[in-house]
Parts: sequence; structure tokens; C-alpha cells
Amino acid sequence: MNDQLIIFDTTLRDGEQSPGASMTREEKVRIAKQLERMRVDIIEAGFPAASKGDFDAVKAVAEAVTESTVCGLARAIEKDIDRVAEAIRPAKRRRIHTFIATSPIHMQHKLRMTSEQVLERAVEMVKHARQYTDDVEFSAEDAVRSDIDFLCRVFEAAIKAGARTVNVPDTVGYSIPHAWGERIKTLIERVPNASKAVWSTHCHNDLGLAVANSLSAVLNGARQVECTINGLGERAGNASLEEVVMAVRTRRDIFSCDTRIDTTQIVPASRLVAGITGFPVQPNKAIVGANAFAHESGIHQDGVIKMRETYEIMRAEDVGWTANRIVLGKHSGRSAFRQRLSELGIDFKTEQELNSAFERFKDLADKKHEIFDEDLQALVTEADLEQENEHFQLVSLKVCSQTGEIPLAQVTLAINGLEQHATAPGSGPVDASFKAIDGIIGEATQLLLYSVNNITSGTDSQGEVTVRLEKGGRIVNGHGADTDIVIASAKAYLNALNKLVAPGERTHPQAATMI
Ligand code: KIV
Ligand code: ZN
Repeated sequence: MNDQLIIFDTTLRDGEQSPGASMTREEKVRIAKQLERMRVDIIEAGFPAASKGDFDAVKAVAEAVTESTVCGLARAIEKDIDRVAEAIRPAKRRRIHTFIATSPIHMQHKLRMTSEQVLERAVEMVKHARQYTDDVEFSAEDAVRSDIDFLCRVFEAAIKAGARTVNVPDTVGYSIPHAWGERIKTLIERVPNASKAVWSTHCHNDLGLAVANSLSAVLNGARQVECTINGLGERAGNASLEEVVMAVRTRRDIFSCDTRIDTTQIVPASRLVAGITGFPVQPNKAIVGANAFAHESGIHQDGVIKMRETYEIMRAEDVGWTANRIVLGKHSGRSAFRQRLSELGIDFKTEQELNSAFERFKDLADKKHEIFDEDLQALVTEADLEQENEHFQLVSLKVCSQTGEIPLAQVTLAINGLEQHATAPGSGPVDASFKAIDGIIGEATQLLLYSVNNITSGTDSQGEVTVRLEKGGRIVNGHGADTDIVIASAKAYLNALNKLVAPGERTHPQAATMI
């Protein structure tokens, strides 16, 4: 039995399908570089047919990544496959992932196709994709609710047509571990050419079982797991990469395979994805939650001090937990700054980009004497946000807040180069600032989420604010960081408003019918 478990990360595609988690091209490239550093085998970078923005992002990832395979998703439609092929062309290793639904409910109501038409389309599109690359993956969407005899026929035909990987998705998160393992085992046993392809599993977390189901699939012969950092993804999310990887690594006595993942890169990847998407990690989340390795009870602490293994099955440092380390300070020079960012996987394309980031660093170092890696990451995110040609720019913000008085905010924004001012009271300084901004912009949006996290510890830490806004059914996240959380909040609010004014039409891969 093959002892390599292939890790297929879909944070940039299925993860991005979480409402509000959409990422810019630069953000996708930064996450992709971190996934590559973590030694993920395949990075699904997006769905190029969704929009020009997603096409560009997949292409940028294909240009930036050299070690991992870069993959793009396509419905079983020629033009989707052609778009993927074009977007991933610059990649050193490339994969086309095409899918079609195989369950009666999807075929009848969504696709309006007969099962024979679906089978024929799957074969034609796998062959079409093979014209571009040998590395073609085929998925039978909603395999969990598909007839097993039909699934066997579809997978056999897809492999015969040239699919090197066949993926069995639990699209709606309906299965339970025992049944999912059985389904994988049956497919591998009954499909005559099963040994010519890698069997993959893709599980959603609607019943909280995505990781358990994925592991059951592995125990029954699957050798690729599709997963995301922090379990990000549609609805309740996908199987979490860190949990799958650490379960397999920690229980080598049970699993007859292992991944190539450099587990020390897990926590940095989790932080990067949480920071960029604005989906914070719950403290008690396995592996990457802030409390995952914290021992509160006296008995546990005593045991761990005497011998760590009494209560710890993994070492915190093995998954990348390290105490915050001061990396730079007020007197650090440009080359130390450039080198540390390069070690974090952030390289500047031009001298001008470096200079402006370095200026920001100096400003920050004046306010905050010890600069950590997390501060540098936030600083670069800020620079990326500014490069997005913002329509609304914050020129100044003044807030008066004192006991017994109603807080008052004065805001000046530049809109298309023209300065506009407004003053507004509010229930607190953040509320007053948002109201003053609304007074200038006059947009009716709904605030769905406002959250503040400290980037490092201490009261001089930068606050990282995420704001989620909704307008006319479109949901966007905005981010801002500053040592002053009211300013960080205003930056985050403006970042979200800027995203709402930018064109953003996207096709959802699974909502569309076949043409
Ligand atoms: O959940 C799903 O079925 C998918 C497919 C496109 C693989 O995301
Ligand atoms: Zn999915």
C-alpha cells in the first residue's frame, strides 16, 4: 500500500467560498507561499471561471509557486477547463480539477440532466482537460448521496478517460465515519481500474465530522485528503488540514501512511489565514487554538512539569507554537527588515514597495519598541490594502472620549482626491467614527461583524480589526491594524467600504447549471 498521504489544500478555493472570506490576488499569493513552505502537495488556488479577479489570482499563484502543484477548479464545461488551463499555464506543476454532480437530486433539479448525460459529460471533459495536462482530477459532486452502482460506473469511466485522481466528496457533510469509510472501500474494491488512480476524499463539516470522515476514508484506502487551514470553507467548513495531518502523524501506529507536511509551519499558516480572512480561530480549536497546549488545572500543570507526556500527546513546538520573539526594533536597518520579511516569505517586487513598507515599519517602531513577526505580517497586509487603489482614503481621525460625555468623532476622508469632513456622536469612539464616515459616504450597509484581536501581547500591541459588511446580498470583510484600535477600526471599515464599491461579480462553482 502506498504510504504517502497527499495533502490537497483548498483554502484558496473552497475556503474562499465562506461568506466574506474572499481574498485579493496578493493575499492569495501570500497564503500560497506559506502553503508551499509547509510542503502542501497540491494548492487549489481558485475557480478561474468565477471572475477575472479569480483568474488573475490563480495565475499569480501559478507564477509564484514552484514546489507545490497548482490546481484550478472547473465545472465539467469546456470553457471552464480552458480558463483553468490558461490560468495555471505558468506553474511548474499543474493540475486541472473538473467536477460534475452525480446524485439524483443534483442531476434532476440542478443540472436537469439524465445520469447517462452526466456520465458522458464527465468522460468528455476529463479527455478535454487531458489535452492540457496529464494531471487531471475528477470529482463526483454529492457522491455521498449518489447511487453506488452509478458512482462505480462514473469513476471507472473517468479513470479510463485519463483522470489520475478521483475525488469522492461529501459535499453536504452528511456522512458519518463508519459509512464514509465503507463507501470508499466499496468504490476501490468494485471499480475495475481503481488501482490506476489516486483515491481522494473531500469532506464538509455540517455535522462536525469532516476530519473524522476523512480519516476513515484514509483507513479505507484514500491517499489524498482535501482540506483547508483552520477548517475554513462553505457553511460549517471543510476538514481542517492541521487536524488531519497531526492525527495521521501522531497515530502512526494506526495509519499506514504519512504526509510530507512540515508541521512547524502549521501555526504560522493558521495565523496568516485567520488574519487575512478575518475568521478568528476559537481558543479551544485543536492544534491551532490559543488554548490547545495550555494547562489550566493544577493537577495537569503538575503532571506536565514532571513529565510532559502525562497530558500532552504532541509538542507545541512541533506544530509551530513559539513564544513571541522580538525580531526587530527601532534601530534595525532596511536590510535586516528585508531579510526578516523574506524569511517570512514576503518579497518586494520593487524598491519603492520596500521603501514604503520600511517607512511604515519605522513609524510603528516609534510607537511600539519591540516588533514581532506578527507585526511585520500585519504591516505588509496594510501595505497590500493601500495598493488596492482605494476609493475612500482616511486622511485624519480625531475622537474625544471622556467619562460623562458623549464621544464625538471628526473624520476627514479623501474621495477621488477631494477632501470631505464630518463630525458625529456615538455610543463609543468606534461607533462615533463609523457614523462620521457614514455621514460622508452616505451608503446604507449592514454591519454583520466587528472584531478586535491583539496581534501580539501587551497593551502596546497593535489591534487588528475585522469588519464584515453586507450590501444588496454582497458580503465583504475589511481589515485594519494600528496600535490605536479606534484608528484600526476606521481603517477596517473603510477597507470594507472600498471592497463594496469595487466591481465584484462572481460565479459560484456549485450554483450554476450546465450549459
Ligand atoms: O464540496 C464539493 O463537492 C466540492 C467539489 C467541487 C469538489 O467542493
Ligand atoms: Zn467542497
